[in-house]
Amino acid sequence: MASPESSAAGGVAVIGSGLIGRSWAMLFAAGGIPVRLYDVDPRQVTGALDNIRKEMTLLAQSGSLKGALSAEEQLSLIGGCSDIREAVEGAMHIQECVPEDLELKQQLFAQLDGIMDDDVVLSSSSSCLLPSKLFAGLAHRKQCLVAHPVNPPYHVPLVELVPHPETAPATVDRTHALMRKIGQSPVRIMKEIDGFALNRLQYAVISEAWRLVEEGVVSPGDLDLVMSEGLGMRYAFIGPLETMHLNAEGMLSYCDRYSEGMKRVLKTFGPIPEFSGATAEKVHQAMCVKVPDDPAHLAARREWRDRCLMRLAKLKSQRKPT
Ligand code: NAI
Repeated sequence: MASPESSAAGGVAVIGSGLIGRSWAMLFAAGGIPVRLYDVDPRQVTGALDNIRKEMTLLAQSGSLKGALSAEEQLSLIGGCSDIREAVEGAMHIQECVPEDLELKQQLFAQLDGIMDDDVVLSSSSSCLLPSKLFAGLAHRKQCLVAHPVNPPYHVPLVELVPHPETAPATVDRTHALMRKIGQSPVRIMKEIDGFALNRLQYAVISEAWRLVEEGVVSPGDLDLVMSEGLGMRYAFIGPLETMHLNAEGMLSYCDRYSEGMKRVLKTFGPIPEFSGATAEKVHQAMCVKVPDDPAHLAARREWRDRCLMRLAKLKSQRKPT
């Protein structure tokens, strides 16, 4: 299935051509890197290539295509592949994007361990599986790490790089450089931890959001506005730590002024919510008033979200490199 121009020598093999595999393929191509896209189900690859062509055409039309190459040039860098050995042959990086199932990923990595070179990086897109579990026992484990993207990866640049205790520092460095080359924003998680950093922050926010609604402090709709019209406005540009630094005369001044108040409030936080029962019903109903939960409404809202993210990405790119 791979065409001559799609040779991935020195390029990337993307294993699994679902939602995330397609996005990675587009991102690597945007960086001018040849991609071989493999899936256990060849129909998925055909569908992915069609979908990527349509996406790239739309992105080019709206001026949001990433990278210096034209859509056609980028498309010519992506080749489908129905043979995993052929997909990884000569690749400098393998990006695994199969479903979030530990056993399935372990089986795939055992297969890849037997065919991969000693100088290729094997990187998993896993959202929450620990790399020490994913890569345990592999001969090439020093070359393995998690590179966790954020949905939708084409519009949200963060990638969490998560090594396990035996990952070679050079593996992380190379992946960091590769992510920078394709325009993503990698962060180094120094030691593996459940939920990595993004989901730990996200779950802390979701947890308190849920408790505030459960306790009748604020309605579900208003709770979301607290983020989208308040905290989220600045969090697209500066993080919580820089926010502290700027909201006083520097970090130490902020700690001096606000630490007692923060600790007092934090002590009132309740236990971990169950995310079920009456509160789940209440939140569900409120969300469905805004976005009915049938596939068409959900898809339309996701498209709207992606268009907003595209515009935000443009705005952010204008203010680089601060
Ligand atoms: P998906 O279900 O859309 O795609 C998975 C693809 O893998 C399918 O095309 C399937 O045919 C293929 N596949 C299954 N077994 C295979 C095998 N043994 N070899 C090759 N291909 C195989 O899944 P999605 O959403 O793309 O997720 C992939 C990974 O990315 C998961 O680990 C997920 O946790 C992670 N991720 C997902 C995000 C999301 O929002 N969907 C965000 C960040 C990471």
